[in-house]
Amino acid sequence: MSAPAGDLRIAVVPGDGIGVDVTAESVKALEAVAASAGRHVRLQAFDWGAETYLRTGVSLPDGALKMLQEGFDAILFGAVGDPRVPDNKHAADILLGLRFRLDLYVNHRPIKLLHEKLCPLKGAGLADVDFVVFRENTEGLYVMMGGNFKKGTPDEVATEIDLNTRKGVERIVRHAFEYARTHARTRVCMADKANVLIHAHDLWQRVFKEVAAEYAGIEATHLYVDNLCLQLVRKPSQFQVIVTSNMFGDIVTDLAAGLQGGLGMAASGNVHPGRLSLFEPVHGSAPPFAGKNVANPMGSILTAALLLEHLGWTEEARRVEDAVRWAVQEGRTTADIGGTLGTREVGDAIAQRRRAS
Ligand code: NAD
Ligand code: IPM
Ligand code: MN
Repeated sequence: MSAPAGDLRIAVVPGDGIGVDVTAESVKALEAVAASAGRHVRLQAFDWGAETYLRTGVSLPDGALKMLQEGFDAILFGAVGDPRVPDNKHAADILLGLRFRLDLYVNHRPIKLLHEKLCPLKGAGLADVDFVVFRENTEGLYVMMGGNFKKGTPDEVATEIDLNTRKGVERIVRHAFEYARTHARTRVCMADKANVLIHAHDLWQRVFKEVAAEYAGIEATHLYVDNLCLQLVRKPSQFQVIVTSNMFGDIVTDLAAGLQGGLGMAASGNVHPGRLSLFEPVHGSAPPFAGKNVANPMGSILTAALLLEHLGWTEEARRVEDAVRWAVQEGRTTADIGGTLGTREVGDAIAQRRRAS
C-alpha cells in the first residue's frame, strides 16, 4: 500500500444517490489539499453502484480487491442504496463485501461538535460532544448467516445469526483501548446487551474485562446499549471512547450523528490498521435528495479529512476540518443545518478556503 513519496493514490467510489453529489465535493477538498501542499493526490473513479449493477449485472467486479490492494492507498466511498434494487444486493456485495473481504474490522466514527448551533441539546458546548465510536465491522448480525424454513407459508420461520468470535471481539476492544492510550483519552465504555444475549455478549463482557486489565490508566465502564442511547442524549460529555458490536454501532452512530448536526455532518472510516482502508460518510444514499444539489457534503469532506489523517497527512487533515468549521461558522451551509447554499456551493467555499489558508 505504499505510494511514491509525497503521492497519494485514492480510489473513488461515489456509489448511488447523494453519494455521487457529496463525493464530488470531498474530491474537490482533496484536490485543494494537494494544490496547497504542493503534493499529488491521484484520484481514480469507479462506477460501482446500482446503475452499473442494473445495466450489467455486476456489482463488485472480479479482481476488484486485488486491483484496489495493489494500486491504491485508500478508498473514498460515497453511499450505496437504490430503490430499484429492493433486496440491496449490490450494496451487500460492494460495501459489506469490501468491509468483509478487506477485513476492515474497525468502523471508526468520530462524533465531534464543530459549532454549538449544530447541537439539538439545550446549552451544549463543543466540549460536551467530542467522542469516538468504534463499531465492530466484520461480524455480529451482519454476516448474513441464517435462513428461511417454509418460506411464504403461515408456518414460516426466519433466522439471522449473530456471530461473535473471540478474535473479532478482542481486536476491536483492543483497538478502542489503544486509541484511548494514544489519544490521551482516559475512559472507554463498552455497550452491549449481555442481560439478554447471554452467550454472545457474555463473550464481549469477558473479553472487555480481560483487555481492560492491561490498560491501567484507562477507566473501563459498561452500559447496556439501551441505556447508552439515553445517556448519549442526556449527557454526552461522559463519553470519550465507545466500543460496541456491528448492529448496535450502526444504530448508535446515527443517534450520535444527531448530536453533531445530523447525518450530513458525520464521517467514518472502515479501517484495518496498516492495510488498505475505506472511508465513507455515515449517511446513506438519501434517494429523494439525489442529484438536487441539496445534500450536505460536510460529512463526506470530513471523511476525506479522516482518510488523510489515516495516511499520515495529519496537518492537511486538520486544515480540511478547519475549513469545514469555518464554513459552519460563516453559515456557508446547506439547508439541513440552517443554510441556504447548495451542495456544490458549500464544496466550493470549503475548497477555496483550503486553497487560501
Ligand atoms: P440516509 O442516511 O440515506 O438518509 C436518512 C435521512 O438523513 C435523509 O432523509 C435525510 O433527511 C438525512 N440525510 C442523510 N444524509 C444527508 C446529507 N448528506 N445531507 C442532508 N441530509 C441528509 O438513510 P435511509 O434513508 O435510511 O437510506 C437510504 C438508502 O441508503 C438505503 O438504500 C440504505 O440502505 C442506504 N444506506 C447506505 C449507507 C452507506 O452506503 N454507507 C448508509 C446508510 C443507508
Ligand atoms: C452504514 C450503513 C450500512 C450499515 C448499510 C448500508 C449496509 O447503514 O454504513 O451505517 O448498516 O452498516
Ligand atoms: Mn448506518
